[in-house]
Amino acid sequence: METLFFYLLLLVAAAFLIFYFKDSWYSPKKVKIFKDIFEKYPYYFIPQKPVKWFDFTGLMNSFRMVSLSADILSIIDKREMQTALGKDTGRELIENNCDESEEEFWFDFIADTGDGFDATTSVFYHLTRDSYTYSFRNEFDRDVENESEIKLKRGSVLVIGGDLVYPVGSEINYRDRFKGPLRLVAPDTREFGPILIATPGNHDWYDGLSAFFRLMCQRSKISDYRTVQNRSYFAYSLRKNVHLMGIDNQLLGDIDIPQMTFFTEYVEKISKGNDVNHVILLIAEPYWYNYDIKDRHKRRQRMDSLEYIIRTMKEAVRKLEANNIKSEIIFDVVLTGDIHHYSHYKLDENVKGYDKEIKHYITSGGGGAFGHITHFLKDEIKLPILQNTTTTELKYELDGKYPSKEKSGKKTFWNLIFFIINYEFTVLLFFLSSIVACIFCYSDSLLKWLVLLLIPIVFCFIITKVTSTECSAEEQWKSKMMRIALFLLSFGIQLWVFAIFPEYDKVIFLQDSHLSFVDGLKNFFKVPAGNNYLIAQVIISALLQSILFGWYILAGYHLFKFYITEISSGKINTGNKNFLKFKITDKEIVIYVVAIRKTYQWMSLLKKKQAFHLQREMLTEDPKKFIKDNFKLDPDKNVKIIDKITIPL
Ligand SMILES: [Fe+2]
Repeated sequence: METLFFYLLLLVAAAFLIFYFKDSWYSPKKVKIFKDIFEKYPYYFIPQKPVKWFDFTGLMNSFRMVSLSADILSIIDKREMQTALGKDTGRELIENNCDESEEEFWFDFIADTGDGFDATTSVFYHLTRDSYTYSFRNEFDRDVENESEIKLKRGSVLVIGGDLVYPVGSEINYRDRFKGPLRLVAPDTREFGPILIATPGNHDWYDGLSAFFRLMCQRSKISDYRTVQNRSYFAYSLRKNVHLMGIDNQLLGDIDIPQMTFFTEYVEKISKGNDVNHVILLIAEPYWYNYDIKDRHKRRQRMDSLEYIIRTMKEAVRKLEANNIKSEIIFDVVLTGDIHHYSHYKLDENVKGYDKEIKHYITSGGGGAFGHITHFLKDEIKLPILQNTTTTELKYELDGKYPSKEKSGKKTFWNLIFFIINYEFTVLLFFLSSIVACIFCYSDSLLKWLVLLLIPIVFCFIITKVTSTECSAEEQWKSKMMRIALFLLSFGIQLWVFAIFPEYDKVIFLQDSHLSFVDGLKNFFKVPAGNNYLIAQVIISALLQSILFGWYILAGYHLFKFYITEISSGKINTGNKNFLKFKITDKEIVIYVVAIRKTYQWMSLLKKKQAFHLQREMLTEDPKKFIKDNFKLDPDKNVKIIDKITIPL
C-alpha cells in the first residue's frame, strides 16, 4: 500500500511519455488527388495536423520567429528588392475577370489559413462553392430586412490577408497545408477561373518571403485560381471608383520607401480619373486592439505606421490640387487577419465628418489556424483621425465578434490543465528536470545550486520572447513583476523538490529503491549516497513546473490581459472559423460574415474514401448533401452568415 503512490507517479510519467512518443511514431500518409477536373495531372500532398505551439518544434519555431523578425529580416528586407520584379498596373482584376460594367463585383476574404488539414479544408470547401445558400442569423441585431437565407456566389477574386501557412512559409508547408487542401476541394476547371491575391503574414515572412514569392508572384494557377500579382503588396481597381489595397507592412509594421511610392503613384493615378475614390485597405495586423492615445508619444505604436501610410496617400491626393486636379480618397474599411477570430469596430454614424473617416475596422483571421479568444476585446476604443497629426480621437464601438466573449472567456480556463493538454511541454520538462537531477546529485559545488535556476531561466526566456514590444511603461512594469514572480515560484519549486522534500521522513515511500534495479544502476553510475529520491524528484518537478506555467499564463491574462496568443493556443480551438464575402455595386459595399461552428473531420473521411474519389464527389454532389452524408452534421446549423455590414458609397 505504501508504494502505491510511487507507482502511481511512475504511471503518470509513463502516460505522458507514451502520448509524446505516439505522436512522433505517427507518420501521416501521402494522398493522391488530381490537379484538374479531367484527372489528367496527379498531385500528392500530406495532410497535416494543427501546429502545436508548446512542443519542442513549436517552441523552437516561436524563438526563431521572434528573433528573426526583429533582427535579421529587417536588415535583409526583401520588399525593397521587389522593384526589380515589375509592378502591377492596378487593372489586373478588372481586365482578367471582372468587367466593371457588370452590376456587382464579388470578392472573398480569408486570412490565417494553412494550419490543420481538417480546419483549413473545411473553410476552403465553403469558400470555393460556386453558389451556396447560407442560413442567416442576425447575431448582432442589425437593421436588415428579415432574411433567413441568403444565396452567395463565389467571389471573382479570393483575397488572403496573410499567414497562408503555419508555422513558417516553405515549399513543403505550402504544398501540404495550403495548395493540397485547396486543390482537393477546388481542382482546376481549366476555365478562366477566379483570381487569387495575397499579402504575406508574419509566418510567410519567416523565410524572408522566398517561398511566398514563388507561390504568389509567378502568374501561375493554384487549384482553380489564377495568381496575377507581381509583388507582396498590391493596389487594384474593383470598380471604377472602388479599390482594394493590400499593404505588406509585416513584422515591425513599417513600410519600405519603394512600396510607399507604389501606393502614392497609384492614388495619384486614380485621382486623375475620379472625383471620389473609395478604398478597402488590407494591412498586416489589427493595430487598433492595443492602441492607447494617452501614450501616443511615449511608446512605439504600430497604429502610427498605419497613420503614416494613410496620411501620405491623402497628402499625395491633396498635392494634385496644384495641378487643378480636385479629388478625394476615402478609406472606408481597414481589414486584417493575424488574430484568428472575427471582430468589427464601427464608427458612430453621428460623428462629424463621418463620411470622410475610416468607418470600419475588421479583423477576420478565422481561415484555419487555432482560434483566438475575443474575450479581451474592449467594447470601445479611441483611435486617432488617420489623416492629420492632431491628437483628436474618434470612438469606435465593438459591433460584432465571433466567437462570443463569453464562450472564449470560459475557454481560457482550459489552461488550468495546461500540463495535460500540452503533454509535450510536460515531457520537455521531464528531460530538463532529468538534467537538473543529474547535475544536482553529482555536483558538490556551487553548480549544484545554480542548476536549480535552469527551468526558471528557461521559463523567463520563453515569456520574455513572447511579450509584446509595444507595451506601455505601466504594462512593462507589470510584465516585469509577473516574470519575477514566475522566476521565484519556479525556483521555489526546484528548491522544495530537490533540497527540502527529501528531508521529510514521511515521504520515504517515494524512494527510488522501490524499483529494485535502480540501486544497481545507481551503483554502476556511482551516484553519491544520499540521493534517494531522484525518480520522484524528476517527475514531481516536471509536473509542478508545467502546472505553474499554465497557471501563470492564465493569471497573466486575467489580471492584465497579457499572453492573448498563448492563452488561445494553450488549448487549440479547431472550430469557430470565419471568412468574409464582399459585394460591391455602384451604390454600396456589402460585407457578409460567414461563420463555421465545427470543422469537418476530413482526416477521418480520408481513411474511408480515396481523396480523388472525394474530389469527384464534390464536383457533382450538392454541397449540403455532401456535408450531411460525409460528416453527419447539419450544414444549416453549422455554417451561417452571422453579420451583414452595408457601407453606402
Ligand atoms: Fe496568424
